[in-house]
Amino acid sequence: MNILVIGGAGYVGSHTVRLLVRAGHNVTVYDNLSRGHRACVPEGRLVEGELSDRAKLTAVLVEKKIDAVMHFAAFALVGESVAHPAMYYQNNVTATLELLEAMRASGVWRIVFSSTTATYGQPEKIPITETTLQLPINPYGFTKLAIEHALTDYARAYGFGAAALRYFNAAGASPDGDIGEDHDPESHLIPIVLQTALGQRERIGIFGDDYETPDGTCIRDYIHVDDLADAHERAMNLLEPGTNIQVNLGTGKGHSVLEVIEACRQVSGHPIPTTVEARRPGDPAQLVADSSLAQRLLGWTPKYESIDAIVKSAWKWHKSHPRGYAS
Ligand code: UFG
Repeated sequence: MNILVIGGAGYVGSHTVRLLVRAGHNVTVYDNLSRGHRACVPEGRLVEGELSDRAKLTAVLVEKKIDAVMHFAAFALVGESVAHPAMYYQNNVTATLELLEAMRASGVWRIVFSSTTATYGQPEKIPITETTLQLPINPYGFTKLAIEHALTDYARAYGFGAAALRYFNAAGASPDGDIGEDHDPESHLIPIVLQTALGQRERIGIFGDDYETPDGTCIRDYIHVDDLADAHERAMNLLEPGTNIQVNLGTGKGHSVLEVIEACRQVSGHPIPTTVEARRPGDPAQLVADSSLAQRLLGWTPKYESIDAIVKSAWKWHKSHPRGYAS
């Protein structure tokens, strides 16, 4: 298929681009490089542009005879969304609606959308299924939920075929260590712990050890970025006019912050000093996916089942790229 990957220079987007290219698809990346990296886009495939530029998007969709869109281009930091909601609503909602209109104008109806566990807020029951109440607790979660609803409505009214994939904690890197996670500033747990192992940070601050969990630290479901990429291709292949699916993507296994740090110690062989800090506002104690619907619908099973395997791939990337793509 001819696929337009919007935000294909970002973390999950770049891994998906690589998988799609290897599967033989004709991939065009559309990215404004505000947070993405030119270096991770295969030669000759990048179109630089804004998500809000409906005319440019329409032209690309038509010129490249696009069959399907994958939409990764979003701001995705909870704290930032609380401080700058306007930026989040503008990009994640308003600009995304421009994309949907560009698709309508050019007759492109397949879309796979990056959604998130943040649409569930503070769920009362673990594991989280797709029928768990979606009640976000921050602007980021609301912006993603708004687009899930828009896609449902566009599928019903305009015959879009849409899949919203609710990622849990994306982690890890390509097994060859060529592409990986590079955010500036970095806020995610595994990269920060591995940067500590590399001596780039003195210690890792644990955000709270008084949660109602076995060791007092927050539990998350870490899912390898290549497993997310695989789910995107499978979801795209399922789309028919009117398809409207939402699925959780996680391993179903929860790991505490302390367990992740211990896995990083084992994999890197570095001691990794820690310090306990205050809770980070908005962090739920536990987020673990029930992904049985994705497994049934997409025929998808995560290949990286253990946190050690996920951390190993991330460590290979961070060791070979200590300054990310600037290395
Ligand atoms: N953590 C620390 N110290 C750090 C960084 C993180 O203790 O320096 C803890 C956090 O408190 C949390 C866990 O490590 O308990 C994971 O934190 P991340 O920042 O790596 O990931 P989040 O779970 O906060 O974020 C993920 C996605 C977001 C999404 C969010 C929804 O990355 O895009 O889940 O809750 F919005």
